[in-house]
Amino acid sequence: MLRALLDYHAKGNRHPELTRVEVASMAVDLLISNAELTPRLIANTLHHLLATNAYTTLLPEPHTVAMAVQETLRYDPPLIGWLRVTTRDTRIADTRLPAGARLLLLLLLLGSAARDERHPTIDPDTYNPTRTDAPPLLAFGVGIHYCPGAPLALHLARQTLTNLLHTCPHLALSLPEADAPAHWPTNTALRSPEHLTVTW
Ligand code: HEM
Repeated sequence: MLRALLDYHAKGNRHPELTRVEVASMAVDLLISNAELTPRLIANTLHHLLATNAYTTLLPEPHTVAMAVQETLRYDPPLIGWLRVTTRDTRIADTRLPAGARLLLLLLLLGSAARDERHPTIDPDTYNPTRTDAPPLLAFGVGIHYCPGAPLALHLARQTLTNLLHTCPHLALSLPEADAPAHWPTNTALRSPEHLTVTW
């Protein structure tokens, strides 16, 4: 993909909707997303399955594993917010925003939206890897900038989890979460536990 983007510009294409800065920004997305977000999705899924003891009853089957990964993306996604710039005057709920507002201060809170109490999700603040009432998934964005790496990330997370369930069926936190709560470093965008100490 990077090659295609670079070739596109090398050939003198100057499509107004894909500026040089946007190509650079997408290169950063490509490099960081794979290295940062997919491992964090796997860590978050593993943490919640172990902390809630759901790991021991989860069957290593495509459907159940996919549901667990899906629930992590709702309950505790690795990317909790992303930045925006408004292209025209707009309004979000009761807040008016002028065109060109830099959304460093206007962070789109994907993680929070997935627990919106106005959506009829039962117990939105509970991690439930078997739930069937999840709201539409926001963790990979929406619309024209929807994450192109979503299928790869989902495949890697599901495959890693399936392999772990097969090879380490007795995986457990070294200490129960209640006795040794995981530390989640503060970050405006990325989220995952600092360590996951386990026994098998
Ligand atoms: C769990 C893993 C991942 C999550 C949660 C995630 C999340 C997101 C989100 C929310 C966006 C939309 C940002 C926006 O609307 O401005 C996005 C865009 C993007 N992602 Fe991912 N991503 C993940 C994995 C990946 C992987 C593995 C790749 C590439 C190998 C990737 C490449 C990209 C790129 C290039 C964009 C920019 C698309 C555009 O601006 O049109 N992502 N990602």
